[in-house]
Amino acid sequence: MANTATLEVNGEKHEFPLVKGTENEVGIDIKNLRSATNGVVTIDPGYKNTGSCESAITFLDGEKGILRYRGYSIEELAEKAEFLEVAYLLIFGELPTQEQLDKFHKDIKAQSVVDEDVRKIIDAFPKSAHPMGVLASLTSALTAFNPSSVNVNSEEDMYKAIVKILGKFPVLVAWTLRKKQGLPLDYGDNSLGYVENVLKMMFKQPNCEYELDPIVVNALDKLLILHADHEQNCSTSTVRIVGSSHAGLFASLSAGISALWGPLHGGANQAVLEMLEGIKADGGDTKKYMAKAKDKDDPFRLMGFGHRVYKNFDPRAKIIKKSADDVLGNLGVEDPILDIAKGLEKEALEDSYFVDRKLYPNVDFYSGIIYRAMNIPTDMFTVMFALGRLPGWIAQWREMRLNQEPIGRPRQIYTGETHRPFKAIDKRS
Ligand code: SDX
Repeated sequence: MANTATLEVNGEKHEFPLVKGTENEVGIDIKNLRSATNGVVTIDPGYKNTGSCESAITFLDGEKGILRYRGYSIEELAEKAEFLEVAYLLIFGELPTQEQLDKFHKDIKAQSVVDEDVRKIIDAFPKSAHPMGVLASLTSALTAFNPSSVNVNSEEDMYKAIVKILGKFPVLVAWTLRKKQGLPLDYGDNSLGYVENVLKMMFKQPNCEYELDPIVVNALDKLLILHADHEQNCSTSTVRIVGSSHAGLFASLSAGISALWGPLHGGANQAVLEMLEGIKADGGDTKKYMAKAKDKDDPFRLMGFGHRVYKNFDPRAKIIKKSADDVLGNLGVEDPILDIAKGLEKEALEDSYFVDRKLYPNVDFYSGIIYRAMNIPTDMFTVMFALGRLPGWIAQWREMRLNQEPIGRPRQIYTGETHRPFKAIDKRS
């Protein structure tokens, strides 16, 4: 294969180097395009054809439905690893030894208290506030209580900021839920595992002991692994571009949380449940909603379906769908919503509109059904997505900073008014 691409612009030919990845993906390096062509740039709304970086963290093959973190398949990691191991793998590049994992967890536990003044911030929110807005605010506010987390120029300073957020973020997640429920904002128990501690902080009632259910612990651990990273998705790209200005890690993560909130992205898991509830309330008439999803004049979309990269089954959706059966079965939960979801999936996969557009269930289609079986409120589903994605965001931010990538600043093609003289107000119509 040639190692350059030729582009002819205004009658002139220009050669640009090809970049080839370890999985044989090829990119045209257009770093010098504008200077070589006297100002010509590319345009690619939504960056559907544009790579923002070279990254060694996560590999996706959308056609084959492949997802690997640092070379390990998502199927193996979901089955054999624990969430904190996967967090270490994503951030530092290798699966940890027991000693490395123990130290990592110890350093995280040492940071698992947040400043008491954070309570005053969360108290200022109305109970009706959406948890994602609260979480984004609290995450950014952490900077005020941990100013040393901003100018992290050494790997040691970066490590300190990383274990700080991994220790404090689960507390913020739990407090966000408990604020809505009017429950005391407590801490968990550092003698517990990472995910066990999250569950205890979220669900312990003030007047009784909290009993961990291994089915719930394992299900949440697996869900967090499945959400941990996904290369340059909307929220991760946001974390990277905010971090490229050398804004601190917590501010970059707060921006990522806000991007994830959108219903076209992580907010879809909440939208899926609301859609399924709507279909159930409407008598379970899935055909009506399929027709709405295909109607160009109807803004309704089949939430949890379709993906920018996967043009085959999202491998995470396959695992979550099976896990939903197992978890609900083991918990003895009968949820008609699961049957509606399966019916909808079957219909869509037999419908040419979806088949032709390669629209398959994505990670958000079944995850909410498991969260609901765990008694997690619907508007907390995307918060759980953020908890899972946290190590991926951190890994990508760290890679961007260690690679000393330039500040992200795309160009544009201006299509507005050409130069015109100022008009006095009495001359305007
Ligand atoms: C996540 O990028 C990631 O990696 C994200 C994520 C991660 O882990 O970070 O995987 C998590 O965000 C998963 C996606 C969650 N979002 C949803 O489930 C919302 C519903 N899905 C869609 O809105 C849509 O599929 C997107 C946003 C996910 C992808 O949109 P694209 O790639 O911009 O595709 P498109 O909107 O151009 O759609 C192509 C065609 C269009 O029809 P035509 O114009 O060709 O006739 O497919 C249609 C769309 O109308 N289409 C849908 C549809 N999704 C796409 N039609 C009905 N229902 C849908 N869900």
